[in-house]
Amino acid sequence: MTRSGSVSLLSGWSLEQLKTLIESSEQNTRSVLLQVQTDCKLGEEYLIKMTTNPPSYRQQIEQETQAQNMVCGQLVTQLLQILIRISGAKTVLELGTLTGYSALAMAEVMPPDGCLITCDRYDSALSNFAKVPWGTKIKLKVGLIADTLQELVRDSWQFDLIFLDADKRNYCNYFKTIIEQNLIRSGGILCADNTLFRGEVWQSKLSPYAQAIHEFNQLLAQDSRVEQVLLPLRDGLTIAYRL
Ligand SMILES: C[S@@+](CC[C@H](N)C(=O)[O-])C[C@H]1O[C@@H](n2cnc3c(N)ncnc32)[C@H](O)[C@@H]1O
Repeated sequence: MTRSGSVSLLSGWSLEQLKTLIESSEQNTRSVLLQVQTDCKLGEEYLIKMTTNPPSYRQQIEQETQAQNMVCGQLVTQLLQILIRISGAKTVLELGTLTGYSALAMAEVMPPDGCLITCDRYDSALSNFAKVPWGTKIKLKVGLIADTLQELVRDSWQFDLIFLDADKRNYCNYFKTIIEQNLIRSGGILCADNTLFRGEVWQSKLSPYAQAIHEFNQLLAQDSRVEQVLLPLRDGLTIAYRL
């Protein structure tokens, strides 16, 4: 059951939906659903246990972040770190900083002369960047992401890896700017978080956010300039390779 349902059920959000379903179900259905819920929780715990533990500084950032469900977490950052290590990425762009959890994870494994630019409308991450030596590899651009992207285009930036983790309704716009304005180099990697959006993207009726993510997924699927895979990791993570 876990295996066939793993796409949506191994995400915190979908477990939340399952909880609602259980509460509104009749006794017979409820006991089956409770079993599914237990199995999914065990599956999720197993994934976390078998994935490298985040260091204590990152655990602390996660605990101190008010909107904890917005932090992309251990599984996604571990994969980002592996991608950075094997690709040797020296220039990384992140859209959506929050308190700096993912930015610091990426910067930690970048080479000493690496540079990570992260963008957010708030500067809440600055104090966390100051706490570790590799925080100096990070430049925070405060402002609207659309404006920052134009600034980066003007300054002729090109990135080895880009991580999209900001407002879902602009994913398509961000992708178009990134690809059309050459913000990602040929051979570069684009990662986008939340691309299953709580398992809503394949439903017949979509919320505006799920619709925006679905359109982003379609945009990539139809674009011959990238090859991509959508992984059922946590809330869905897309990894695209710029040809
Ligand atoms: C999901 S959080 C990022 C989490 C972070 N990547 C992590 O895993 O630690 C999204 C962030 O994007 C920022 N954001 C959303 N839309 C934005 C916009 N249009 N311009 C600037 N920042 C934006 C929010 O302020 C928020 O901090």
